[in-house]
Amino acid sequence: MTTVDLPLLPLGRGADLNSERGVECPGDLPAASDPDLVARALAAKEALGDKVFVLGHHYQRDEVIQFADVTGDSFKLARDAAARPEAEFIVFCGVHFMAESADILTGPDQQVILPDLAAGCSMADMARLTQVEMAWEAMTAAGIADSVVPVTYMNSSADIKAFCGRNGGVVCTSSNAEVALEWAFEQKADVEGGAKVLFLPDQHLGRNTAVLKMGLTLDDCVVWDPHRPHGGLTAEQLRDAKMILWKGHCSVHGRFAPEVVDSLRAEIPGINILVHPECRHEVVLKADLVGSTEFIIKTIEAAPAGSAWAIGTELNLVQRLANAHPDKRIVFLDKTVCYCSTMNRIDLPHFVWAMESLAAGTVVNRIEVDPDTERWALVALERMLALPGKTEKD
Ligand code: 13P
Ligand code: SF4
Repeated sequence: MTTVDLPLLPLGRGADLNSERGVECPGDLPAASDPDLVARALAAKEALGDKVFVLGHHYQRDEVIQFADVTGDSFKLARDAAARPEAEFIVFCGVHFMAESADILTGPDQQVILPDLAAGCSMADMARLTQVEMAWEAMTAAGIADSVVPVTYMNSSADIKAFCGRNGGVVCTSSNAEVALEWAFEQKADVEGGAKVLFLPDQHLGRNTAVLKMGLTLDDCVVWDPHRPHGGLTAEQLRDAKMILWKGHCSVHGRFAPEVVDSLRAEIPGINILVHPECRHEVVLKADLVGSTEFIIKTIEAAPAGSAWAIGTELNLVQRLANAHPDKRIVFLDKTVCYCSTMNRIDLPHFVWAMESLAAGTVVNRIEVDPDTERWALVALERMLALPGKTEKD
């Protein structure tokens, strides 16, 4: 196995066999240590043939990603799901909001399956529809709702996307947030005082894009805290702001710290710091490059042999990049192990269980968005897919 220079040995590398015992799965799931799992996954996939299309997000485990027909970031996977109308089943190896988006973007005869229903997203859970509706009421009371365009990150539940669709807004991903914000500000450019954006649910992606790409200042941004009365903001603060950021964050990317950037720069001269825009603003300010997971992968692929990189994104992807590029020095931008625990819920036993069930004629763990939510979420998603200009990777 290629050794990777990571600050801490992550799990699964033979560091501590006692902590790496397989966990037995309940019910009919195969045991995690079952040596036949790979063969069973292959057999089920072969039996299903073109009826199944397997999508894998870049943060998925190696044991699962090997079975994906396509891999990608959330933007690419949304496009790929929409472009496969002939597949009866879409098995989504990712998290719940991604599977919901795939259900919305695919036809009524297609069924989307999430192998483990516990694969949610703590960031998406930070914005609930009732909370967002209360914030909207406060904006109406402050007399600004007519100038606000809601923009939600893909990492949100379908009902938040539907809220944006209903209220003239759009969905964005980490690879097209700048284009989406440009579009949003143009929608209300003629309103007195100019347009405002309510950005859900990731304050960091919103702030990083507004300040580093759109030329806004930190003073143009306020943070709406759904757990405080009136979001913790006065009506005047709401009226003065251009970006109203929802107080949400990614528990994985929120861990990266500016001090680690400093110590790695001191330790490894010439190291390049490459981070995802879900990282905190202080971290992004210290980075050399910032972009979505697709951007991170392409940057490493294009990097010269011998170059050194510290990457601030989910550990499964960083490890995979380190293993694929042994000619480059790739380290993880955190002192501790940091997988996305919900992405990691999709493991080989759950994947095999979902695939074998499908092959036997039983659909398990179907993700189905209700028709009214679907209708309005689709409006916001289609606005995203039709955005003018370029994403960072086109
Ligand atoms: P992207 O796939 O848009 O890079 O987002 C990363 C992420 O956090 C997915 O959950
Ligand atoms: Fe959610 Fe962050 Fe995990 Fe992505 S990496 S699924 S945003 S918790």
